[in-house]
Amino acid sequence: KEISIIGVPMDLGQTRRGVDMGPSAIRYAGVSERLESLNYVVHDEGDIRVEIKERAQSDTESNLKNLKAVADGNEKLGQKVDEAIRSNRFPLVLGGDHSIAIGTLAGVSKHYKNLGVIWYDAHGDLNTAETSPSGNIHGMPLAVSLGIGHPTLTNIGGYCPKVKPENIVIIGARSLDEGERILIKEKGIKVYTMHEVDRLGMTKVMEETISYLKERTDGVHLSLDLDGLDPEAAPGVGTPVAGGLSYRESHLAMEMLSESNIITSAEFVEINPILDEKNKTADVAVALMSSLLGDTLL
Ligand code: ARG
Ligand code: MN
Ligand code: MN
Ligand code: MN
Repeated sequence: KEISIIGVPMDLGQTRRGVDMGPSAIRYAGVSERLESLNYVVHDEGDIRVEIKERAQSDTESNLKNLKAVADGNEKLGQKVDEAIRSNRFPLVLGGDHSIAIGTLAGVSKHYKNLGVIWYDAHGDLNTAETSPSGNIHGMPLAVSLGIGHPTLTNIGGYCPKVKPENIVIIGARSLDEGERILIKEKGIKVYTMHEVDRLGMTKVMEETISYLKERTDGVHLSLDLDGLDPEAAPGVGTPVAGGLSYRESHLAMEMLSESNIITSAEFVEINPILDEKNKTADVAVALMSSLLGDTLL
């Protein structure tokens, strides 16, 4: 089995500096070596070119920060991901802020009739320019992928929408804006907030998620925002929220996904080494990738 690693040094979907160094931090944490030790053939495709913050401009009409530059980077990413899948390689995308899920899903979804998405995150990322409290596009990629949002974003890859609401499962949510809650209810999106994780336990949450997605999808993309984890386990993120998923719960989730064999692409986002403690968050990301891709304790 072959893997394509695609780095996306994207920091234009939010305002804190340093998340564009996420791909380097993950490589420094030894991602290729780790996956090679699991007997994968790993192709590191390098990084997508993303405009530097100093040259990016916001859309004056909609107040979407760095709209054009975010869209350009995602267009390129979509093409790269598409090529990886055509070459029969598992796409593993390294972020960068979460706005890059727009491009990843644009590249992935055209290969499936019913793509499933697991959104492992403290946030819903279901805002639009109208509901967003920040104008930051990293708070919007899941809405965009549903076809809700600015056409410059929803039409990336040349088609829209990328996912159906009933094929999405959000896990770890604990910070949802008012507009996002309304959208979740309106669209009937399946969400396991921290409340459900505490009540049911991660084992049950993953069993339900896996059987739910197995029934209705022909491929599943894992979009893992490191802020889904508790800030104690993953401090190097731009928008930390207390009370998150633990290191062990997250490993269990990855191991169960590995056993289930449903995951067909993945991305790990929001790693910001500037805000980190000794590259701890990238180390966690690599450990989780390795569990997801079949590492076992024995
Ligand atoms: N809901 C907030 C916003 O729209 C925070 C989003 C955080 N998203 C993320 N991918 N970390 O600005
Ligand atoms: Mn930059
Ligand atoms: Mn988040
Ligand atoms: Mn996110």
